[in-house]
Amino acid sequence: MVITRTREELYKTLEEFSKRPGKLALIPTMGNLHDGHLSLIKLAKLKATKTITSIFVNPLQFGINEDFKKYPRTEKLDIEKLKKEHCDILFIPSSGEEVFSKIEKVKTLDSGNLGSELCGKIRPGHFDGVLTVVNRLFELINPDIAVFGAKDYQQQILIKQMAKLLHPKISLVKAPIIRSKNGVALSSRNNYLSKKEFEIAANLFKCLQNSVNSYHKRKELNEILDNANSFLISKNLVPDYFELRDSELNIISKNNFKGNKVFLGSITINNIRLIDNIEF
Ligand code: PAJ
Repeated sequence: MVITRTREELYKTLEEFSKRPGKLALIPTMGNLHDGHLSLIKLAKLKATKTITSIFVNPLQFGINEDFKKYPRTEKLDIEKLKKEHCDILFIPSSGEEVFSKIEKVKTLDSGNLGSELCGKIRPGHFDGVLTVVNRLFELINPDIAVFGAKDYQQQILIKQMAKLLHPKISLVKAPIIRSKNGVALSSRNNYLSKKEFEIAANLFKCLQNSVNSYHKRKELNEILDNANSFLISKNLVPDYFELRDSELNIISKNNFKGNKVFLGSITINNIRLIDNIEF
């Protein structure tokens, strides 16, 4: 695996790789890689012959009171894991200036109305920061394919909308959610949870499953959502939101049995916010 830390090294390596036949797939990450991230690389390798992973803890997507400083940085371990997956290139910028020339002068992209709903309501500006960095990575790397996880459902939809406008040649691939044995979706933030909290957190997935079952049984949507919120509270999970949307994240107000839908939930446990969803 070729490790690139500057824009110059990245460009040089991409130029070398462009001489090889086949497609290039990008897997953007913030590191602290777990099996969820690695599943994205496995999927990328099925779709493309060349893979590039980026590891960059993007300051633009963290609010002032969020965990940018303490976000887990595990470079050595991450490199070992990527080598095992036979990733071809790693872009791990040595500073923010290797991504954005001058971080304080970056023109941020606007994530629009959807960017301030669901997670965006709790994290103002977060999705503007995500879109800005992903757009920049697309500009720097110009991949044929980019892979994103369904775990961050809203992120994946907003990136799809941005790419359709600004990078129509890049095909986006959505990778399924990888879970731990108890059902909790893998996330770098799970590291902040105690063993007991991790077990309690499994109730978010249970709640999503129960809601899908109730929906299939044609229960009233309002009743399903009320039950979900009460269930989460009874398990000592504070619901930030719990909603049903269509698969493009448009609001559904009444029971509507046509087309793909997604229940999305976010809970806080001991000041740690976790998200999950089930598309059906
Ligand atoms: P990060 O949280 O590191 O996630 C990187 C990618 O891994 C995202 O596409 C995310 O959806 C996917 N992922 C994380 N956990 C997963 C799981 N349990 N199952 C499947 N996929 C999973 O998301 C980001 O970084 C950043 O916002 C980024 C897109 C890199 C922009 O900075």
